[in-house]
Amino acid sequence: MKPVMIAKNINKTFILHNQGAAHLPVLRQQNLEIFAGECVVLNGSSGSGKSSLLRSLYGNYQVDEGELLISQGEQWLDLATAQAREIIALRRNTIGWVSQFLRVIPRLSALDIVMQPMLENGISDSQAKTKAETLLSHLNVPERLWSLAPATFSGGEQQRVNIARGFALDYPILLLDEPTASLDKHNAQQVVELILAAKQRGAAIVGIFHDVWVRDLVADRLHNMQQPAQLAG
Ligand SMILES: Nc1ncnc2c1ncn2[C@@H]1O[C@H](COP(=O)(O)OP(=O)(O)O)[C@@H](O)[C@H]1O
Ligand SMILES: [Mg+2]
Repeated sequence: MKPVMIAKNINKTFILHNQGAAHLPVLRQQNLEIFAGECVVLNGSSGSGKSSLLRSLYGNYQVDEGELLISQGEQWLDLATAQAREIIALRRNTIGWVSQFLRVIPRLSALDIVMQPMLENGISDSQAKTKAETLLSHLNVPERLWSLAPATFSGGEQQRVNIARGFALDYPILLLDEPTASLDKHNAQQVVELILAAKQRGAAIVGIFHDVWVRDLVADRLHNMQQPAQLAG
């Protein structure tokens, strides 16, 4: 079986232009292969570059060196050199992303936010609505909130809308940056179920999980980051 995604010899240094162009090495010779149906958990202390690696895998951060290969049938697309329009196309139906924070879209209801990725991929209105309702119910977002814009929701409610949106489509690759960080144990458990179901259908998942119990339930293996001290050396 061939990987769904390969990161090869990734290097990245932040240059802080407003601080005398200080160099902050964040990723050193990172190598990672992700296969369908598994969840790889990025493991390392705070500041070890976990979120930076995940953002690089999403094409959000430009890496300085290395390849970020995404399987496209017989071909590979290198995110490190891809055009913006190719990255946008990948995000529409290939790579899903859930971070700790919902990017609230003004005036769009919670239901619309969850339906949006499905509608953009040609799924019918009624099918998208049914799936969105199932996800919002699974994540215990009260029905009275579904037609409201999430701007006024609590942090945990916003996060659950965000997660519902991230799991609305069956993306082949899912990137999860601390999706359960602001959730209580019961809701975190509901997210664990979504992750396990995604693996079951063959999703390749890379995640960062603050809670060890969540990590232990979802991880097939850990990818150890280098520690900041090693990076600086
Ligand atoms: N956009 C950025 N610009 C400059 N430095 C950054 C940026 N993003 C992250 N960093 C720095 O890179 C290091 C790694 O951060 P991060 O990837 O968020 O680590 P983690 O997710 O493991 O806590 C930290 O020292 C952080 O301050
Ligand atoms: Mg982080």
